[in-house]
Amino acid sequence: MTVHFIGAGPGAPDLLTLRGRDLIAACPLCLYAGSLVPEAVLAHCPQGARIVNTAPMDLDQIIAEITAAHDAGQDVARLHSGDLSVWSAMGEQLRRLRALGIPVSVTPGVPSFAAAAAALGTELTLPGLAQSVVLTRTPGRASSMPERETLANFAATRATLALHLSIQNLAAVVTELTPFYGADCPVAVVWRASWPDERLLRGTLADIEARMDAGINRSGLIIVGPALAGEGFDESCLYAPGYDRRYRPQDAGSRWAGWSEE
Ligand SMILES: C[S@@+](CC[C@H](N)C(=O)[O-])C[C@H]1O[C@@H](n2cnc3c(N)ncnc32)[C@H](O)[C@@H]1O
Repeated sequence: MTVHFIGAGPGAPDLLTLRGRDLIAACPLCLYAGSLVPEAVLAHCPQGARIVNTAPMDLDQIIAEITAAHDAGQDVARLHSGDLSVWSAMGEQLRRLRALGIPVSVTPGVPSFAAAAAALGTELTLPGLAQSVVLTRTPGRASSMPERETLANFAATRATLALHLSIQNLAAVVTELTPFYGADCPVAVVWRASWPDERLLRGTLADIEARMDAGINRSGLIIVGPALAGEGFDESCLYAPGYDRRYRPQDAGSRWAGWSEE
């Protein structure tokens, strides 16, 4: 018996991995995390499977469900939205299950920041503008932030920021980031990326608040950084004609010879 943690992806059912789909189809018990996991993903559960929404449950109740399945020798599919490596609450479940000696597996999913970038048709790391993406959040009712993980500290790098769980803090985000990025820095708000009702708002730190509307609530991402402009960046060396790499060797005198690991 194994508990299979599965990243269910950002919303579109066909953004579930094939491995995730097959595991769901093989498990007689499916625990899924509330409204961010689409119904169509649950349709992969086998006939007669028990399907439990864990949104109203506490950790003890979730572990009790899993322990009962373990005692009955039943595999469990445990679904969380996006990928499991960020804000999935998988860590606390893994710790309990490992202490109980219950076997687990982890299958990644498409994270919401990647789905949001795809919706925007944007690369978040453009040479000369940004080579890092910071996945972060602002403090919420249930979670404070570690002391040094401030927006100001991240903003000092001018990397691309992908702010999760923060739509309700947009005004504070704008105030904190403007001194670092400038009022004309591009901002995008992507709400329910990949869902049928996906919404994209583009603006700058100066005007993004005015562009917001009340329909855009917590399931949105705020992405900030110069890379969002999609212009004013350098071409990468990777495809430069004179760039020497394993699959496209150049003569030893070339400007880029010997440069690459790719
Ligand atoms: C609890 S976190 C889950 C993050 C998820 N594990 C991931 O990989 O993206 C929920 C937050 O993720 C973001 N989010 C999740 N799904 C989204 C989507 N389809 N479009 C935009 N943002 C999304 C929002 O910022 C939301 O507040």
